[in-house]
Amino acid sequence: MRLLTLCAQDFRNLERVEVSTDARFVMFTGENAQGKTNLLEAVHTLAALKGFRARRNRELLRHGQDAARVSGVVFDGESRRQLSVELSPTGRKGRVDGKSPAQLEEYFASLRAVVFTPEDVAIVREGPELRRRFLDRAAFTARSGFLEIAQAFRGAMEQKSALLRQERPDRLSLEVFNERLAIAGARLSARRDRLVAELHAPFIEMHGAISGRGKVGLRYLSRLGDGDEAARAERFRVILGENLQAELERGAPLDGPQRDELELTLDGRSARTWGSQGQVRSLALALKLAELSAARRRGARPLFLLDDLSSELDRLRTGRLVDLLASLDLQVLVTSTDPQVLGDQPDQLRYVVEAGAPRPC
Ligand SMILES: Nc1ncnc2c1ncn2[C@@H]1O[C@H](COP(=O)(O)OP(=O)(O)O)[C@@H](O)[C@H]1O
Ligand SMILES: [Mg+2]
Repeated sequence: MRLLTLCAQDFRNLERVEVSTDARFVMFTGENAQGKTNLLEAVHTLAALKGFRARRNRELLRHGQDAARVSGVVFDGESRRQLSVELSPTGRKGRVDGKSPAQLEEYFASLRAVVFTPEDVAIVREGPELRRRFLDRAAFTARSGFLEIAQAFRGAMEQKSALLRQERPDRLSLEVFNERLAIAGARLSARRDRLVAELHAPFIEMHGAISGRGKVGLRYLSRLGDGDEAARAERFRVILGENLQAELERGAPLDGPQRDELELTLDGRSARTWGSQGQVRSLALALKLAELSAARRRGARPLFLLDDLSSELDRLRTGRLVDLLASLDLQVLVTSTDPQVLGDQPDQLRYVVEAGAPRPC
């Protein structure tokens, strides 16, 4: 997959941008607070219909504007497609070749992107929620159908939570909702597990390549165990049955895949607790590189959006990382304050970004 062009209008501080991105490496350099990361976020929005920093659409709209637009031409090796997103304070609308796709999946299949930003160290360092979010995003990027699975689980959870908040929840309804939840939860858990199985070997390999030190481990610890989908559903039914009374008393759901953990270890110890700053950074980056590598093994070629290359990787061997990225054979869009960070990699387009305007350099 290659993004050939990128246009952004009233997206954060990008008033009107139109650039060619038709190269293996696209580099946005410049001083701080000029809009480099905003350009990557525009690409991410084009792929996922949401930014990677913004919580709300409104943050993505240029101050004082009530609409923003991002568009681009994507080449998948066979054909070109024009993707566009229109953002309003409350909504988003994606189009493929000018038409609204019947299914959102159809839109997402047109362009997939994996992003790594300095803030991603939090995936390793913070609580399990961020690791679950990483897993779910990666599962979404990896395959069609995950969105539906995640939404089914969330829907079942919300329905049950609403019931439990009632004064006297109807027990029969609760049992019906629990059965729905058991099935949705088992599917979610099995999908996450499958993804982690795919990430495992590339994670070790990528970590070795960028760090070279320490034995790393990656394991999905699901409350629903590690059997097949049916076994997980059965395990969840048992948990839900055991917790029925306690949930009624608490007025909230207790246990389930919403509490699962993605365990990251370094030399057998929890990376979260024991990892140094540099180690945590390498692990977070290795996770994202593993995601890209696993995608390549499946024959997919997502874009890699790498934010703030130099500052993030001072201590890692940046040159080695750049060679590694080149070997993955994916399109990489990079931001950095250091214009030389990619060295003399061939097939490289460079822009300097100033006050929201990129110009070739
Ligand atoms: N919604 C918005 N409207 C206008 N400007 C914005 C908006 N959101 C962020 N900005 C501006 O974008 C700039 C930061 O851009 P960013 O891409 O993070 O910079 P950097 O070049 O350091 O990566 C800041 O000047 C910020 O004020
Ligand atoms: Mg930035």
